[in-house]
Amino acid sequence: MSFISKQLILWHKLYGRHKLPWQQTNNPYAIWISEIMLQQTQVSTVIDYYKKFMQRFPSIESLANAEIDDVNELWSGLGYYSRARNIHTTAKIILQEYNGIFPQKFEKILEFPGIGRTTAGAICSFAYGKNYPILDGNVKRVFTRFYGIKEWSGKSKVEKELWEIADMNLPTLDIEIYNQALMDLGASVCSRGIPQCSKCPLSESCKSFLNDWTKIIPAPKPKRLIPVKEGNIIIIQNDDSILLVKRNLKQIWGGLWSLPEIESHDDLNVWLFNLLGITKYKLIDSGRCHANFSHYKYVMHYKHILFNKLNLKPIENYIWINRSNVGKIGLPAPIKKLLSTL
Ligand code: ADE
Repeated sequence: MSFISKQLILWHKLYGRHKLPWQQTNNPYAIWISEIMLQQTQVSTVIDYYKKFMQRFPSIESLANAEIDDVNELWSGLGYYSRARNIHTTAKIILQEYNGIFPQKFEKILEFPGIGRTTAGAICSFAYGKNYPILDGNVKRVFTRFYGIKEWSGKSKVEKELWEIADMNLPTLDIEIYNQALMDLGASVCSRGIPQCSKCPLSESCKSFLNDWTKIIPAPKPKRLIPVKEGNIIIIQNDDSILLVKRNLKQIWGGLWSLPEIESHDDLNVWLFNLLGITKYKLIDSGRCHANFSHYKYVMHYKHILFNKLNLKPIENYIWINRSNVGKIGLPAPIKKLLSTL
């Protein structure tokens, strides 16, 4: 066994996390859901979402047979909504092509949408005890520091080297303890800000500790100016109901309910007349809110209008929802937050 794997397995017994809800099982479905939720999301945020999700959809079959709106509702606030669509699609594939039984082969798991090498490795190791490496952000930090790799770990050359390092360090036994230990060390002792090297089981051979490089490794991602995109949204209130639209799958927040968006607020009157047949309304408020995505910031200018009209006809792709129910539907988090302030 390598120094890293030997040390980490010993360390985990004393200092690692043992009671996370998805550690109480080796059901591949439960582990898959937890690993998808844990992509880009902290453990503390995931725990409640995971518990609610597993209560509502306790099996692959229940998830495959659910409506996507119900899946989105449980995902609301977690962000990266393509994850919710991907697990729903995957559950259907598993039901149809694998008789509802989660496959065991790494290569098959890797074919599912939204599953990369790290997630497939985590599922194979945690559910089946198979010897596969993982390389998420925390693990990259541990390896780059230990080996003194000063280049940014997102570079493909560096990433390739890190996968080789990950492979080389796999233990011969206890893969599930080792992989969890790597994640735990990266999330706690080997933190980004000020790592606690005095508590680290790897420090005696860690290049960054020995050379005082922990401040410069991991190298930050090269800076790029984040572009700003702007949009115009409308809070249309009829008595106590708000109009929502189902977003196109190709847009951001695709498949979620959200507020209607228009090209320009100058077109508002014409747009309202065409959609709802109304000409009179009261402008209650206007302002802006924003959402941060990995590649850009999205600034939404909103207008909040109010009118009272009985017997509006249903419109395809739109629903009226009572103000008090906006918390119960799968809305993007910034929209939910905006509506909660009305
Ligand atoms: N991040 C990704 N997978 C994880 C897991 N199983 N436990 C803790 N953090 C994680």
